[in-house]
Amino acid sequence: MQVKSNRSLSSLTAGALIAGVYPGRRPGQGNAGLFRKLGWARRALADAGFEGSSGQVAVLPAAGADLPPRIVFVGLGDEVDLETLRQAAGAGRRAVDDVDVVATTLHQTPIDGAGGAVLEGLALAGYRFDAYRSRAVARPEPVFEFLGGSPVEEKAVARAMVVVEAVSLARDLVNEPSAAKGPMAFAERVASAANGSGLSVDVWDAERLAAERMGGILGVGAGSDMPPCLLVLTHKPRRARRRLALVGKGITFDSGGLSLKTAQFMETMKTDMSGAAAVCAAAIAIARLGLPIELVAYAPLAENMPGGGAQRPGDVLKIRNGKTIEVLNTDAEGRLVLADALSLAAETGPDLIVDVATLTGACRVALGDKIGGLFGTDGAVPQVAAAARSAGERLWPLPLPADYRSNIDSEIADMKNTGGSRYGGAIAAALLLQEFVGDSEWAHMDIAGPARAEKGEHYVSKGGTGFGVRTLLELAESLGQQ
Ligand code: BES
Ligand code: ZN
Ligand code: ZN
Repeated sequence: MQVKSNRSLSSLTAGALIAGVYPGRRPGQGNAGLFRKLGWARRALADAGFEGSSGQVAVLPAAGADLPPRIVFVGLGDEVDLETLRQAAGAGRRAVDDVDVVATTLHQTPIDGAGGAVLEGLALAGYRFDAYRSRAVARPEPVFEFLGGSPVEEKAVARAMVVVEAVSLARDLVNEPSAAKGPMAFAERVASAANGSGLSVDVWDAERLAAERMGGILGVGAGSDMPPCLLVLTHKPRRARRRLALVGKGITFDSGGLSLKTAQFMETMKTDMSGAAAVCAAAIAIARLGLPIELVAYAPLAENMPGGGAQRPGDVLKIRNGKTIEVLNTDAEGRLVLADALSLAAETGPDLIVDVATLTGACRVALGDKIGGLFGTDGAVPQVAAAARSAGERLWPLPLPADYRSNIDSEIADMKNTGGSRYGGAIAAALLLQEFVGDSEWAHMDIAGPARAEKGEHYVSKGGTGFGVRTLLELAESLGQQ
């Protein structure tokens, strides 16, 4: 993508101009002249039922008015924040999907960080996954022209570019079919994306996993012909203020294992590595931005399949920290691989551990498709919640009630991997994870809902969303400032 700052309308080469509008069809900052030139526009907007409320979009032609051919009016509503701008920019771009040079005045909205947010929205809305279309049309690199006002600061542009690249990488990884992203292939993909970022990349293969007592990852991976592995990314700057560990669930396909899913529930299970994609993409972004924190990202990668070597319901696994788990349902596999990786992360005594996982259907039932569940220690949850709020990703806190721990008591092992009830499944899973984080500050994001979108909307694309990447990046930035 290319970003330009233009002072005036006349230098425009854009195919469309995206302009913000406040309720009552009042022009957004930088659009007074536009409204004067298009004297009839207000009336046309009114006729189209366009008020200027948040989420509204109207496209009008601007023939002969010394303007780009199409003007995209986007409603801003009364309370504008960075997420409003991201969404408005995304919705605007979506409305003129065919245009490669897009101008906007949205960056003139008087909020700190407006330019970066607008750029994120514009760029992310244009995301496509065409790798498997035989007739994919190659499109030119998009050009975004920021019109008038003060130019968007170079630093903000650079950051937005890193964000867009990271979110797009996460989306690509999620959208990739499972046949092409077995555990090792996934690790290689990430390693090549991390090239030049300064991250060091380490991959533990199955043999190493056995030597390191990682019984959870090995147990889940046992039913697949593609062996499991653990991907470890490390960012170690000279002056690090804090130490952050990220852990992402990386089930490259979740068939359920011997506790096989139904065909319908299996359809989207290539997305079950969204947590791993988010932490890896965030790690790359953190390294590229040179943030002053020490970071280790762990992606336990396995394919959950019902092959001849597969673990059986009733088998017992021994996790890295020595605790044992009775596997009653092989479809509750995410917590098993996370248990190993969390144990490993906790050994190094970081200031904060955050895990991200498409962990439970129950969390999706609770919060729907756009909001993730947030669990963890009292020290960690507010930090992650604040980061999510500034990133514009929605997380909602859920409890870890001590008296629910007995729901995962096992007859023969330290715990079992299901809660034994239809109710509170997201909590049962989180309570199991809690057994593996030691004394560390810890937060757990259950993103089973928002990791995937059933339809495209503003800057969110259909399919993999890259949810979590921006929250983790915000979190790392705020830790770097503490
Ligand atoms: N990967 C699924 C959770 C999931 C479901 C993610 C739908 C995204 C969309 C997870 O491994 C799983 O199958 N969990 C089971 C646990 C149950 C067997 C205790 C679930 O939630 O049904
Ligand atoms: Zn499962
Ligand atoms: Zn799963």
